[in-house]
Amino acid sequence: MHTLDAIRSRRSVKHFDPNHQMTSQEKNEILSLAMLSPTAFNLQHWRFVLVEDADLRRAIRDVSMNQAQVTDASMLIVLCADMQAWQKDTLRYWQGADASIRDFMLPAIDGYYRDHPQVQRDETMRSCGIAAQTIMLAARAMGYDSCPMDGFDFAAVANLINLPHDHVISMFVAIGKGTQQAWPRPEQLPMSDLVIKNRF
Ligand SMILES: Cc1cc2nc3c(=O)[nH]c(=O)nc-3n(C[C@H](O)[C@H](O)[C@H](O)COP(=O)(O)O)c2cc1C
Repeated sequence: MHTLDAIRSRRSVKHFDPNHQMTSQEKNEILSLAMLSPTAFNLQHWRFVLVEDADLRRAIRDVSMNQAQVTDASMLIVLCADMQAWQKDTLRYWQGADASIRDFMLPAIDGYYRDHPQVQRDETMRSCGIAAQTIMLAARAMGYDSCPMDGFDFAAVANLINLPHDHVISMFVAIGKGTQQAWPRPEQLPMSDLVIKNRF
């Protein structure tokens, strides 16, 4: 599928075939593509939690407004990120680079994040948002539907997946075979409301 067609045809689908199983090859393909998404300083701080245990899916659905996608999707990713990746063995993000680039990057990472907790968190959300869209477009190109989700109790899900204290949950992405079409697009704001030339 052409990228532009994947963008145009992606919709947030709420009903998935609970019996459809994606192959591990398909799941790995989606994750491999997601891992090509950009991250500032190449930190790659996303952590993709695949919820494959049926009991855990049910427990997560219970704290997700009983949304059926949680149990019925063929693949449920809890998109998390490590807010402290900027100070964990940073050489591994740049070890293949030329020494001159590496020697510039490592202190730059430290200077950018240290003592800036909001930046540490904001950057994870930027990265996860981009990765989520990569996942949804890749899924679409492979003939699947998807739904981004944040209608859940973040603290309860964190508890259920043993989220480390220095990590954060960004959203879920549910992927599978849609059984009902998304409702028609409810409204698209005009470009004139959304695009600002030069300054507000
Ligand atoms: C961050 C985020 C959270 C969302 N959470 C949910 C959700 O919990 N449940 C749901 O059914 N849809 C959820 N959606 C889907 C939106 O309702 C949907 O993207 C929007 O209505 C536009 O429709 P479209 O994605 O089909 O174009 C979410 C979307 C985003 C971006």
